[in-house]
Amino acid sequence: MKISIIGSGYVGLTTGACFADIGHEVICIDNDSSKIKSLLAGNIPIYEPGLEELVQKNVKKGTLHFTESIEEGVEKSLVIFIAVPTPPLEDGSVDMTYIEKVARQIAAVLKDYRVIVDKSTVPVKTGEKVYQTIKRYNSHNSEFDVVSNPEFLREGVAIHDLLHPDRVVIGATSERAIKIMKEVYAPFKAPILITDLNSAELIKHASNSFLALKISYINALSRICEAAGANVQMVAEGMGLDHRIGKHFLKAGIGWGGSCFPKDVAAFIKISQELGYDFKLLKEVSQINSDQKEIFLRKIRDVLWVLKDKRIGLLGLAFKNNTDDVRSSVAMDLARVFLKEGAIVQAFDPKAMGKAKEVLPSIHYCSSALDVAEEADCVVIATEWEEFINLDWKSMKSKMISPIVFDGRNLLDKKRMIEMGYHYVGVGN
Ligand code: UGA
Repeated sequence: MKISIIGSGYVGLTTGACFADIGHEVICIDNDSSKIKSLLAGNIPIYEPGLEELVQKNVKKGTLHFTESIEEGVEKSLVIFIAVPTPPLEDGSVDMTYIEKVARQIAAVLKDYRVIVDKSTVPVKTGEKVYQTIKRYNSHNSEFDVVSNPEFLREGVAIHDLLHPDRVVIGATSERAIKIMKEVYAPFKAPILITDLNSAELIKHASNSFLALKISYINALSRICEAAGANVQMVAEGMGLDHRIGKHFLKAGIGWGGSCFPKDVAAFIKISQELGYDFKLLKEVSQINSDQKEIFLRKIRDVLWVLKDKRIGLLGLAFKNNTDDVRSSVAMDLARVFLKEGAIVQAFDPKAMGKAKEVLPSIHYCSSALDVAEEADCVVIATEWEEFINLDWKSMKSKMISPIVFDGRNLLDKKRMIEMGYHYVGVGN
């Protein structure tokens, strides 16, 4: 199958590489010429485990190509995926200007039948608008179909999620487009759910909001556990063994972040409001999330009293492990508060320091996790990197002024840390 993907960000590039790997002929398109140049030279602009190798392998195989030209992509491919950003606006609604522009650009060069697939996360009814826009600007009056095919990959494990999806959702009504989309996904051997356009679009926002709700639920429970002297990890384990609940996304912490949940929950609240429904439950999900960070900060202030001039060792800057992404990262938010209150922040992240430096140059960036403990008044764990679990916590202690650990991800064993002589503060335990 000949496929083009417009937008070579996290979703577009990873999807392109995986499609090429399973045997499709793929063209990845981006209007950022420096990005295309670096991709052509085999350099990946993001850190995603396994992606660089996958891109290089398929470029070599001749099934993965890069270009700046939408015209070339539309001419050479039967299926055109749109994977451009849909960033949030001030009021929580979604900036649709990139999608609208791409729809016009496709329309201008459309000469034969094409399936236009929206992969970006979009408000319900976007597909209808994309259809109308292409129809309006379609100078050759060519045939086309618009399909919604939301993406459910997680950063950090994106290749696995793409190659082994729990489900593939295809929102379309045209039998011709459905047949082509089934061929695109045939090699994945995943369950395919065919829906109408609007339902497919809703599935994405509904899924992300539900996952955020699950985390906020366990975070709210963590507060009850603290008050009751219970352990949220045990409560989560006991709940998760019920297969109707499931064990995933029940890790209490400092709250969810990243480029998806905060934006998608805010957008879904706004979309529901525009459709006439006041989604109070989701508003509370969002409130619990911002409170969770504040409660964690309160715990730090309770122990350290004044943050000014304190040396805080910060472990983790990425919004989660196995990524270099610091967008809407709670770890970065914590660093901002520490710096604002006059603390010295010495931080380490295995992959995200480059991106963090661009945003927060006043952090002192350490060359190893061990170095954050140097003369530190406390260490704060803000990202769930596995390597922080296996750190030499005895050496860490010997470097610190006072051995205090605020474990915002419940990575460490509380009992063991206390035995080692640490003042340990976790979440809900
Ligand atoms: C999320 C969804 O999980 C994907 O299915 C979806 O495709 C993606 O958004 C998207 O819309 O593009 P992602 O944002 O990459 O994926 O990362 P997650 O693994 O979902 O983590 C989100 C946040 O929740 C992170 O800050 C993570 O640390 C936090 N989290 C996750 C918890 O605090 N507790 C948990 O139990 C799980």
